[in-house]
Amino acid sequence: IHTGGMAYEKTYVMLKPGVLQRRLTGIILQRLEEKGLTLAALKLMVIPREIAERHYAEHSQRPFFPDLISYTTSGPVVAMVVCGENAIARVRALAGPTRIEEAPPGTIRGDFAAVTRKNVIHTSDCSESARREIELFFSPGEILEYEDPNADWTY
Ligand code: TYD
Ligand code: MG
Repeated sequence: IHTGGMAYEKTYVMLKPGVLQRRLTGIILQRLEEKGLTLAALKLMVIPREIAERHYAEHSQRPFFPDLISYTTSGPVVAMVVCGENAIARVRALAGPTRIEEAPPGTIRGDFAAVTRKNVIHTSDCSESARREIELFFSPGEILEYEDPNADWTY
């Protein structure tokens, strides 16, 4: 991947169960693509319970954890690696706040989520999480390097 600046980042993004069934995959991917972010990896998977528990380990003592794990493993997800300048913060901004009552229209959660527990999209919250989560869901060979159009004047 072309690195045009200091904060060229990879982030882990996951479209949660329900997105495929609701046929929202395309419109959510469009939000990322039209903002100029770059897809480096993408696959469908059903997440094994043990992987879901590792992914959300920071929440293991929270009351919502059992529901979060059963929901996360309840059907296929779209797992991806998204790249770009400041990709971690930019994708979180596109996703919107965790709680749907705080997620404004124009954000992915604000537009498509009806309840916080099923808030449509996961995105890494910092570079350390991004590294850990990408490694949990992808092998290095699944992450593609190709010329990034963001590097030139088009965006
Ligand atoms: P969290 O990491 O706090 O949010 P984010 O996904 O924005 O990084 O929480 C992980 C997921 O847990 C969140 O997307 C939805 C679920 N969750 C609840 O169901 N109830 C809650 O009160 C919170 C904070 C999260
Ligand atoms: Mg989080």
